[in-house]
Amino acid sequence: SVYDFLERPLFKWGVCFSGKKTGIMFQDITTLLLDNKAFKHTVDIFVDRYRGMDISVVAGVEARGFMFGTAIALAIGAKFVPLRKPKSCQGRVCFNGEVIAEAYELEYGSDCLEMHVGAVEAGERAIVIDDLVATGGTLSAAIRLLERVGAQVVECGCVIGLRQVKGQRRLNGKPLYILVEPR
Ligand code: PRP
Repeated sequence: SVYDFLERPLFKWGVCFSGKKTGIMFQDITTLLLDNKAFKHTVDIFVDRYRGMDISVVAGVEARGFMFGTAIALAIGAKFVPLRKPKSCQGRVCFNGEVIAEAYELEYGSDCLEMHVGAVEAGERAIVIDDLVATGGTLSAAIRLLERVGAQVVECGCVIGLRQVKGQRRLNGKPLYILVEPR
């Protein structure tokens, strides 16, 4: 099962020596993407959960939230709304148009999420998808962005939940769904 997969050695902690702050631990979901069955099973779990809930917006957090979020959006018949991290654009333009932004704190600094103005309309029902939740700062910023334009955030869904959020099932008052919590 996907749960067994996520316990495999390839899907274990790594330590980052560049890019992010040295010593920060990370978990690499790209090994999950290499296994077609495990990837499909992972997406299907979210699809089964959100199908029939009248969700019109799947907001995916850059970058790995795009990988799961787009697949989920296609399967449940919702639009996909990218929430971008300007740092990833490295000075280039992230969006062709007006954006709104929300800043947040990370384990290793601060960051910002941006969303296209007009991508989501007031009253739409949205879920937020990312690969991983650690402190919850990123998802909290995503919730604030969507609520600023009047959307209803039904739930946040992540493949992995780290120890900091273990047991926590709500974020900014919103339900938080986590597939696996590594030991
Ligand atoms: C990771 C992960 C989440 C975020 C979660 O991305 O993909 O988006 O951290 O952390 P939090 O719950 O403490 O907010 P990261 O910010 O490292 O950026 P990346 O997409 O450049 O890897």
